[in-house]
This record gives sequence, C-alpha cells and structure tokens, in this order.
Amino acid sequence: MKKIKIALLGLGNVGRGVWKIINENGEEIRKRSGYDVEIAKILVRDKNKARGVDIPESLLTTNYEEIIQNDEIKIIVELMGGVNPAKEYMLEAMKQKKHVVTANKMVLATEGDELFEAADRFGVMFYYEASVAGGIPIIQGVNESLAANKIEQLYGIVNGTTNYILSKMELENLDFETALKEAQEKGYAEADPTSDVEGYDAAYKLGILSSLAFGAKVNFDQVYREGITKINSTDINFARELGFVIKLLAIAKDEGNELELRVHPTLIPKTHPLANVHDSFNAIFVKGNAVGELMLYGRGAGDLPTGSAVVGDILSVLRNEGNLENYSAVKNNLWKRDIKPISKINRRYYLRITVTDRPGVLGEITTIFGKHNVSMKSIIQRGREKDNATLVIVTHHTNEGDLMNALEQIKELQALESVDNLLRIESFNS
Ligand code: NAP
Ligand code: HSE
Repeated sequence: MKKIKIALLGLGNVGRGVWKIINENGEEIRKRSGYDVEIAKILVRDKNKARGVDIPESLLTTNYEEIIQNDEIKIIVELMGGVNPAKEYMLEAMKQKKHVVTANKMVLATEGDELFEAADRFGVMFYYEASVAGGIPIIQGVNESLAANKIEQLYGIVNGTTNYILSKMELENLDFETALKEAQEKGYAEADPTSDVEGYDAAYKLGILSSLAFGAKVNFDQVYREGITKINSTDINFARELGFVIKLLAIAKDEGNELELRVHPTLIPKTHPLANVHDSFNAIFVKGNAVGELMLYGRGAGDLPTGSAVVGDILSVLRNEGNLENYSAVKNNLWKRDIKPISKINRRYYLRITVTDRPGVLGEITTIFGKHNVSMKSIIQRGREKDNATLVIVTHHTNEGDLMNALEQIKELQALESVDNLLRIESFNS
C-alpha cells in the first residue's frame, strides 16, 4: 500500500469533518485510491483550543513553515476561510509543487484566477468541490456530467445557514436571531455570519458555478445581491397565503446576449421542488438544452457533508497522480459576457406597504402603477392599526425599472406610511 502525507490548514467545523472521515473511512479510501492517507500536520491559530476530537497534540502547529518546508507532504487542504492568508498559503504550496484542495468559496470567487493560473504554472492539481453546496457534487456535475449541455438556467438554494433560518421561521415560528444562533451552533455558518445572511456567500457560489456553467468570466461583484435580514414573519405568512414559500435563491440565466446573475430572497410556488428544500439542505435546479430539468439535492453545510466533498477531492488528486499531462486547473474558453442590470429584468413582484386607510388611496396607487406599465394581479388589504392598513400587492410580469419608478412616486403620496418589503417572485417558466 502506497502512503501519502497531507496537511490540513484549519481544524474548525470542516477540518474536524475531514479528520473524522479520513480516520473512520480509511479502509474505503485505501481501496478506492490505492493510498494510505496520513494527516501529517494541521495548521491552527491556537494549539490550546478545545477541539472536540481526539487528535495528537504533536500534529498541531501554528507555523506554516513547518508544513511548506516538509517535502513529504504532497497535498495541502485549505480549510481556514477568508482571502488572506489562505490565498498566499495556497500559492506558496503550489510553488512547492504540492497539490491543493480547498472549500473556500470567498477566495475562489474573488481571487480564483490567480490560483487557477498558478496551479497550471507549477503543474499541480487544484480541486474545490466543497466550495459550492457542501456535500452536493455540483462542481463535478457541471464540469463533467453535464458538459454536453448548453446550460440555460440554474436556480440554487446554495446557503445552508439562510435556508436553515428561513425553514425554522416558516415551519417552527422561530425568530431570526434564535434560528441563526442554532445554525452557528451546528457549524453551518461562516466565521462572520454576515456573509451568509447578507447573501455574499451565495453570491460567491453563484459566481463560481456560473463561470463553469456558462464558460463565462464572472466577477463576483457582477452578481446582484440581497440578503434575508429584511424577511420577517409577516412576509412569510402573506407568502404562504398567496401559495408561495420564501427562499434565498441564487439565479443564473443565459439569455443569449446577456447573463442574468442574482441572489435575493424570492417567493417561489409551494409546489416547486425547491420549496421543499428545508433545514441546511441545498439544492441546485438546472435546465440544460439536452438533459432538460434536473435537481441535485443534499446537505449544503456541516462538518461531515462538507468533509465528504473535501475528501472526495483528495481522492481525485490521488487518482489523477501520474496523469498530470491531461490535467488543467484553468478552464479554457472563458468568454467575457455582458451581465443584465437588475433594472432590466422582468419578473413578478410582491410589494407590502402601509398606507393611511382612507377613501381613494387604492385609486391613487393603481393610477401610478398604470402610468408606469405595472399591471397588478392581486391585492390583499389587511388589518387596521390606528388609521393604517397593510396592502400586499402582487404584480403581473413587469420591468423592474418601471416598478421602481412607480414606487418612487408612490413614496411621495401623503397616504403612504411605509414601504415594508419588495420581493421578487419566480415562477420558473421564463
Ligand atoms: P471555522 O470553523 O471558522 O474554522 C477555521 C479554522 O481555520 C480554525 O481551526 C482556525 O484555527 C483556522 N484558521 C483560521 N485562520 C487561520 C490562520 N490565519 N492561521 C492558522 N489557522 C487559521 O471554519 P469552517 O466552518 O471549518 O470553514 C472552513 C472553510 O470551509 C471556509 O472557507 C468555509 O467557507 C468553507 N466551508 C464551510 C462549510 C461549513 O459547513 N462550515 C461548508 C462548505 C465550505 P483555530 O481553530 O485555532 O481558531
Ligand atoms: N456558511 C455556508 C452555508 C457553509 O451556510 O452554506 C457552506 O458553504
């Protein structure tokens, strides 16, 4: 049996998952790869921290030099998170001819080009399956199994933390803060959960996925992004009454001349398969011109599901060793594509506003909508608090720019107390 030494950079949620899998599934790994995988060193910030796993203290180090200068270590597994020093450490490892595996979507979405190019320049392998949707093999799926397709549309629930929060708010009436705390305790959230709840994490993942799916050069800042912090139980209840569920969706569409790339809370029909993706589960719904519609579903976060993808990547390195002439980290033919501005998209919308409840107010609002080509599908008027009423308006398909112009005028009405929420509706048919 051949032996290979690897090092982990980080021993947090994912690092511990990788440790457990390599130790518990050693026999399967040996059979499938022909290698006995030994974790020879683990980089951490604090050697004295309680870790909840039984790991010999001698494996832990706070000094990267001990890893990078060790010629016996052939694979570096980066599980620290953040851009720096993760990027520098990976570049240094490649320079030293060590293969690299990472779960770090932030560094890939923002600085990925440099890493892919370095991997090719130094002739090493670079794998990153765990960076999108945890345990779901979507990177491999898009890169290989679906490679025959022109991918037309892609809708993903790709952040476990926000899906956990929205599911708990919807199904168990939990408040936002309690649900977020639970997601953090379960190891789903990023070190700074702002990345999850404000949609950055999902936008990083959409950037990575859409470059692969559309063969496009996508910069993370081209992805339109909104998080879930503005969602409350009032919207969840109105959405339910209207036949919808609210999900943080990552949406990518190839519209020929332009790509549509956006992450935002979305009302989706409760009958759609994505509406039944709860808890930390993720799912990616893909429409390809040959395969048609398909959905990949599984745990998108957590120690073992994410560890599963990371260890799978380590096995890919081991299987491809000796076959490097056929390997390239850089995906060729990445075209620069125009990205559709959000004001040009055409969707249905959910608008919740509070108005003074007096005769003629509805007429003033519908007149403004009419002037801006916004057609209303339904209106719910609810509750009188003092002299105020809540209006929930659902539109037909409309141009977002027109809707925004109408909203600006509605804000000037004397009867308008507040614009409480504006959400997009996805019906998946265009
Ligand atoms: P985490 O629990 O915060 O763990 C990070 C680990 O990295 C800790 O062990 C920390 O050391 C170490 N570390 C951080 N900065 C370091 C530095 N400058 N030098 C040395 N060690 C450093 O994070 P995680 O949840 O495991 O996530 C790790 C990566 O996987 C991130 O890129 C994340 O986005 C990605 N990911 C996470 C999940 C998930 O479900 N959590 C899923 C998919 C992908 P100490 O322990 O000593 O502080
Ligand atoms: N924080 C991320 C999530 C981890 O909640 O989905 C998985 O990438």
